[in-house]
Amino acid sequence: MKKIWGLMITVVISIVLMAGCGGQESGANAEGGGEQRVFDVSLPLGEGSHHDVGMKKFKEELERLTDSRLSVKLHYNNELGGEREVVEGMGINTIDMGVASTGPLGSFVKDVYMFDLPYLFKDVEHAYAVLDSEIGEDLAKKIEEQANVKVLSWMENGVRHETNNVRPIKTPDDLKGIKHRTQESEVQVDTWRALGTDATPMAWPEVYTALQQGVIDSQENPIPTILDVRFHEVQKYLNLTGHVYSPLPFMMSKQLFDSLPKEDKEAILKAAKAATPVQREASQKQEQEALKELEEKGMEITQPELKPFIEKVEPVYEKWAPNINEELINRVRDFKY
Ligand code: MLT
Repeated sequence: MKKIWGLMITVVISIVLMAGCGGQESGANAEGGGEQRVFDVSLPLGEGSHHDVGMKKFKEELERLTDSRLSVKLHYNNELGGEREVVEGMGINTIDMGVASTGPLGSFVKDVYMFDLPYLFKDVEHAYAVLDSEIGEDLAKKIEEQANVKVLSWMENGVRHETNNVRPIKTPDDLKGIKHRTQESEVQVDTWRALGTDATPMAWPEVYTALQQGVIDSQENPIPTILDVRFHEVQKYLNLTGHVYSPLPFMMSKQLFDSLPKEDKEAILKAAKAATPVQREASQKQEQEALKELEEKGMEITQPELKPFIEKVEPVYEKWAPNINEELINRVRDFKY
């Protein structure tokens, strides 16, 4: 009798588990299409941020293209994990979608470290032209092959600037000894050491508290990000170092993408394409507005002369360009736009 009960319980549990798995896979049938699905999306910033504008536009377009059969749920402020964890999660299909800056991606795909090389792009138009060219497509392919993550489009994080609570930065000498946070990127650590700081890599969700508690004095991010996460509360000086252009790849689990029917894949790609210029425009607009607001909120803004910074980081190129992909870096530098 005990054996029969045991067998029945096993059968019931198996049926329940199979039903559960079937539910999870719904919409992932390569033949059918037409199934309802809500994708979870990770964002490192909050509601109203330049990241959010892009994701809201994506949602609107995706719902329009599929009569709301496909949609997204937006998870703000690293709710699904830090950026490196989110990339890993998409790689093993535990996270559906996310935007993240490229800093933590270089450890998965070496070529992506290129974006951490200081003063590589002349201006944002240069960055857009490169990202929207074959170079952007090739990089996306590499990310797909090496991190198992599908890049849906290249959105914008923005031009990064340094902030600190020690002093205004007029020359690289002013950075000497400052405890500076970098993203989880060896290239960034080398850059900020070359500039004289005491540089430490740190995951994004820890940065505000570390600044607040004085574990670090300094960080760097695009201007809309600095306002979104309220760094003005814990940082006095905003120094317009403009040392890198930071893209914002909008990504998806490759396993999940590949499992979808053709019409769903097309709708996702179309919606991502439509959302990209809207997101970039919001990023540019917020950069102007946030700069004013940060000043009003009491940050002291300094525009240093950049030539001495560019000279100081030359050794970073010497060390890293051959390691990353010299040919790619030269192509980017010489790109006509
Ligand atoms: C970082 O500094 O870790 C990132 O720029 C955060 C972000 O993606 O907004």
